[in-house]
Amino acid sequence: MRPVIAVHVGAGTWKYLKVDDVINAISDALKAGIRAIASGGSAVDAVVKSVMVLEDSGLFNAGLGSVVDLAGGVSMDAGVMDGWSGSIGAVASVTYPKNPVLLARKVMELTDHVIIAGSGGDELARRLGLEKHPGPSQEVLKRFRELLRRAKEGKVRFRKSYELALRLGIVSTADTVGAVALDKEGRLAAAVSTGGVIMKFPGRVGDSAVPGAGFYASRSAAAVATGVGEVIIKSFLTLKAVSKVESGLSVMRAAEEAIEELSKVYGNDNAGLIIIDSEGNAWGAYNTRAMPWGFLRFGDRAPTISGLP
Ligand code: GLY
Repeated sequence: MRPVIAVHVGAGTWKYLKVDDVINAISDALKAGIRAIASGGSAVDAVVKSVMVLEDSGLFNAGLGSVVDLAGGVSMDAGVMDGWSGSIGAVASVTYPKNPVLLARKVMELTDHVIIAGSGGDELARRLGLEKHPGPSQEVLKRFRELLRRAKEGKVRFRKSYELALRLGIVSTADTVGAVALDKEGRLAAAVSTGGVIMKFPGRVGDSAVPGAGFYASRSAAAVATGVGEVIIKSFLTLKAVSKVESGLSVMRAAEEAIEELSKVYGNDNAGLIIIDSEGNAWGAYNTRAMPWGFLRFGDRAPTISGLP
């Protein structure tokens, strides 16, 4: 089997980042994932490694770049699924780890549980010796203060602040990073990580902690989602897309149909996904302005990248 890895860095408006920075980050993440497989690692090793590179970049809404909630704090969700064994690990609303995806993997491999949330997840991360998150970045705080300023001018009520922020272009909806991979043994895996949505209610959990919504993998396909978590959860977006491949659709048809069905119910500008199948075919579909994503096959010199703004 020729291994392949695909990553995305979030569906959204993409008003803030330089395209070159996005391309470089995607390439770095893909190469790190392929290296993990080349050195004998599994699909799970690859997706976790790729997502960690994106979390550490500080460029995206995950890990070091995570946005803040209404109280100005960072809380993150992440999930990992091994399509071969069906094992799943996820963390919800955690604040401690620099790399929530690594903690999700620990939940999958070291506990009897699927999802660990809040202070329990933080305590697990601390006791396992995972690196600590340093808190919101200056760039994230700058955007947060801008939102607060506009709110104080009476232009917004907090409950609608997210929509207003989008309309005013104060924040990019770009959110969440994710990876899917196929390894030499034909095993598929998915991993995802996010800081959630900016100005969320403290304690809010999005799709990235919910298997079948933000991530899903089987022996036939693996998918990760990005966008407005509430809509993705209600649609069980990744389970739906993977099920479509299992019933015979190509990854392209499966991804496009799953997004079309979501858009019919919930409108546009709210979701995207990437998916690969057990033959290494990859596709990305989204109903937003952009969703930068790419894939790299073992032996290829350069990644294929698309969905740029
Ligand atoms: N997709 C990220 C979130 O809504 O939490």
